[in-house]
Amino acid sequence: MAGFSPPPGTADIFPEEARRWRQLENTAAAVFSRYGYGELRTPMFEYTEVFQRGLGDDTEVVQKEMYTFHDRGGRSLTLRPEGTAGVMRALLNTEVMNGVEQRVYYIGSMFRGERPSAGRRREFHQIGVENVGRIAPELDAECIAMLMHFLEELGITGAELRLNTRGVMADRGPAGELLRNYFAAHLDAMCPDCRTRFERNIWRILDCKQPGCRAVVEQVPDYVAAYSAESRAYFERVLAALDSLGVPYLVDRFLVRGLDYYVHTVFEITHSGLGGQNAIAGGGRYELFLPEVSRPAIGVGFAAGMERLLLVQDALKVGVPAPASAAVYLVGLGAAARLANLKLAGELRHRGVAVALEVEEKSFKSQLRSANKSGARWAVIRGEDELNRQVAVIKDLADGTQTEVAAPDLGRRLEELSNGAGQC
Ligand code: HAM
Repeated sequence: MAGFSPPPGTADIFPEEARRWRQLENTAAAVFSRYGYGELRTPMFEYTEVFQRGLGDDTEVVQKEMYTFHDRGGRSLTLRPEGTAGVMRALLNTEVMNGVEQRVYYIGSMFRGERPSAGRRREFHQIGVENVGRIAPELDAECIAMLMHFLEELGITGAELRLNTRGVMADRGPAGELLRNYFAAHLDAMCPDCRTRFERNIWRILDCKQPGCRAVVEQVPDYVAAYSAESRAYFERVLAALDSLGVPYLVDRFLVRGLDYYVHTVFEITHSGLGGQNAIAGGGRYELFLPEVSRPAIGVGFAAGMERLLLVQDALKVGVPAPASAAVYLVGLGAAARLANLKLAGELRHRGVAVALEVEEKSFKSQLRSANKSGARWAVIRGEDELNRQVAVIKDLADGTQTEVAAPDLGRRLEELSNGAGQC
């Protein structure tokens, strides 16, 4: 049945599950709007150079994981592997390049050609935010605190915040030199990937998980000491602001993050409920370059993986919202009553009432069974006799009481009942 399954690393999300996704989205919108963020929707694909230049040519994402194709004119396009670069491209022509702050959040599919596993997909979904245009350590701290607030509202307890500083771009020279001298003496003990990283992107050695490399990395000299005084002071102010916000954290010198645009603060949220892929969210401050623009766009932000948020909620047994069932079930005996019910269903739905009904010929017993099963509180029952007398019976399925109501009053009466404005 391979032809009928979705491609590896993708998934269908059925209504039962989609309710949980919707809850994540609604919570994000509610929390982020309290911090002044508005939603931004950008295309799912961009010109390839937006990501190449934005994320950095040497990153794993750009080198190995992008879904790239060509349009009819031969332009190279790429399905977005993350949200930040596209958001910056969208905001490029707004005032953010002149230091005017903008706060946006986004929700949607991202695409990376990774090997699928639990919590790792090729099409996955992120909820992300970007606070763009200004730089201040307190903005970094506020952004992190908002992420923790979001997790709290989702019922996610026990999440761990780790953070570090990448300094400014100019710090990479002296600090990188210090790392180079140290790692050069230990290359033999390191994995082949790290030997390549030594040449191309030495910082990524710091978060290698191979035991041989870990042993080397754990003895690494204090490279932050080689940063400028301003960079170190910036990070101290981030920590002070987090302290004042009451956000617990762990400074982790091995946290560098996989994208090249980060400067100053970088952070990640992990949760033990996840197992292997334990990062539920990650982010930091960045200076992101776009094609044909000489100045970088600056900002701070994060993205949380929606699949992973749901896995953590599962592990924590966070309650799932109840399915929305119909409030009213229409039982009709005979073709004319069923047609009248179809019309009544339309009227009720326009009044905001959720309705279920049987449209085919079924026995009274079977229709009443369906009414009880549907979760509806009220059943409307009518056959030929009721139609002739222009009435219908409203049955309270909770206690079995029945009331006859004039047909023209049915819509208003059922609307009142389903809003809890009266008893039959
Ligand atoms: P990232 O760390 O690459 O950062 O991704 C953020 C989150 O997306 C991860 O922590 C994880 O939860 C989820 N994620 C990543 N890859 C996958 C995958 N293959 N399957 C499932 N979930 C995944 C970024 O994307 C940055 N744009 C975040 C950011 C925003 N930094 C500044 N602003």
